[in-house]
Order: sequence, then structure tokens, then C-alpha cells
Amino acid sequence: MVESTKPSYSGQRVDTDDKWYQLFQKGVELGTWNVEKLFDEIGFKQDKETWESLEDDERAQIRYLLSGFLDGETEVAGDAATNLSRAMGADCLEGNRQKEMFMTMLTLTEHKHTQFLDIYMNEVMDDRDNYAELDPRKGTRVPIVQATGLGEVFEHQGLLTAKAAQTDDPVDIARAATNYHLNVEGILARVGSTAISRLPERANLPLLNYAFKFISTDEGRHITHGVELLKELLEKEQAGKPAYQGVEENIVSTLYEDVPYMADFAYMYTDAVGDPLDFDIDSTLMRGGNLIDGMYNETLGCDIDYMQVMDNVSDRYNEISEWDLESRLEEQERHYQQKRGVAMDGGDD
Ligand SMILES: [Fe+2]
Ligand SMILES: [Fe+2]
Repeated sequence: MVESTKPSYSGQRVDTDDKWYQLFQKGVELGTWNVEKLFDEIGFKQDKETWESLEDDERAQIRYLLSGFLDGETEVAGDAATNLSRAMGADCLEGNRQKEMFMTMLTLTEHKHTQFLDIYMNEVMDDRDNYAELDPRKGTRVPIVQATGLGEVFEHQGLLTAKAAQTDDPVDIARAATNYHLNVEGILARVGSTAISRLPERANLPLLNYAFKFISTDEGRHITHGVELLKELLEKEQAGKPAYQGVEENIVSTLYEDVPYMADFAYMYTDAVGDPLDFDIDSTLMRGGNLIDGMYNETLGCDIDYMQVMDNVSDRYNEISEWDLESRLEEQERHYQQKRGVAMDGGDD
């Protein structure tokens, strides 16, 4: 993982030999890109021009994809700042002080990702109501995210990280880290970033592309942290320590619990939205499958039945392709309008 650049100095409270210390330093060094500077240097102009030249269905597909990111980043930022940081201080974790230090870097970058996406979508894309004042952290996600069911993954994340922070139990920490670092960051965000990196073939959005290069590099460090954390817990389980028994089983079950809802993200890639940008559902599923195999089986040594995962995904895909998305969206928006206390006359969109 992190190359061992051993500093020549040491502390008493902070262990400078610890790999999380080195990951923290990497964050200090590399995670410093400035969203506002990026806006100043690249500007919104080209992205706005391109956006205006796109067809409606192309805009919808990009908007859906970025909406998943906007809600996802908001959610991971909030959990990183609170429950996940608390869980990293648990006594059962080695070098918990350095892990907490790393969490400050993780939290900072997640807030920057949220900052970028929120401002970018507001400035570049045509104005869609995100119901922001109803508080996305209380479940008022972008209507498309809630209507497709992707929101369930983030709901699960909130529950698992809260439990881990409360119990400091290694098995609960393993479940939270699996959902957060492997499923949300390691699979959902990476599959989404791959799609965004292919956008220049179809749509010239330089600001979006530059930002996603930084975002992906940041996410790489977060995933490294998650994988190393889970390796540590698995090693203790394998060494026979009683408190760690059940770690592997729960890593695996958390994947199976999240898979159907992660498949909802694939909705943005399907013929149901016309796939005008040619994201291609088959290669998307293949990419997701490879990521699962790489992280869960090759790196962590779990025994995930790849075929079972793909079956779960395709069952869910068949289910969602039957949906009438427009009416689901309308239903979601009506619900938000009611929360707002605004009487709907049915004519708004
Ligand atoms: Fe992020
Ligand atoms: Fe992240």
C-alpha cells in the first residue's frame, strides 16, 4: 500500500512508523486541491456551452449519474465527520490515534467532493430542485436517487457507521467499513468515475473531468484505508481472537445486503434511460464484478460467489427495468412538496 518513507523523527503520542500515519501524510501532501481555485482556473464557460448543446436524454443521463454522486458525497462526508471518525478511535484497532488522524483527511476531501458537485450542478446544469432545505442528511435525497432505490445504500451506511461508533465492536466496524469503503467508494464511486472519464468522447466538460481526476485520486487513498483496515480485522480473526470472530462472514453478508441497491445505480446506464452516452450496462456490470473479485477475493481472501452476485444484480435489474420511472419521480417530488407544505396542483415538474 503506502511506500514506507520512514521519517527520521518520532513522537510520543503519534507513531510516525504507522502506515496510517503515512497515509495521513499522503493526504496532507496530495489532498490539497482547492475547489474554488479549480473553478477560477478552468471556469464554467466550456462546460455550460457543452451542456446547452446536449440532447435532453443525454442531459438526463449525466444529471442522474451526478445526482448519485452528489447524494453519495454528502452522505460519506457526514458519516466520516461523525460516526466513522469515532469508530476509528476504537480500542480494538491498532494505531487508532493515527487512524483518527487519517479520518480528518478523509473528511476534508469528502466535503470538497460535495462542495464541487453541489456548486457544479447548480452553476452548469439547468436548474433542478434538490429540496436542499429539507436536509439531505435526513434522507431528502435528490428525487432520482430516492426513486431508484440507490438511497438505500446510503441509509444502510448511516445505520452501520452509527452502530460501529456506538459499540466499538470489531465485527460492527467491519460491516461499516465494508459498506463505506468497499461498496460505496470501491464499487459505486469507481464505476461512476469510469463513466465520467469516458464522457470526453461524447461531451466536452473539462471542469467536470479535471475535478474527477482529483476526486478519483482522493478515493484511492480512502479505499486503501478501508482495505487495510479490513485486512487487520481479518488477521485477528484468523489468529483466533474471540472478539473478532465473525468478521469475514459479516464482510461477505454486507456485500450481499448492498448488492441489489448498488445495482440501482446501474439504472443510469441502461436502455431505460436510452443510454444515449453509450455507458453500456454490460461493460458496467463487468467492471463492478471485477472490482468485487479484486477487492473481496484477491485482496481480502474472501470467497465471494461471483455468480450469485451477478444473479442478484440481474434480478434487481429486471425488477427496475419494469418500473415507470416518471411516475416514481413524480411521487417522490409530491412527497417532498408535502414536506415543504406546498399544495401541489399536479402541473409542476
Ligand atoms: Fe468522495
Ligand atoms: Fe471517499
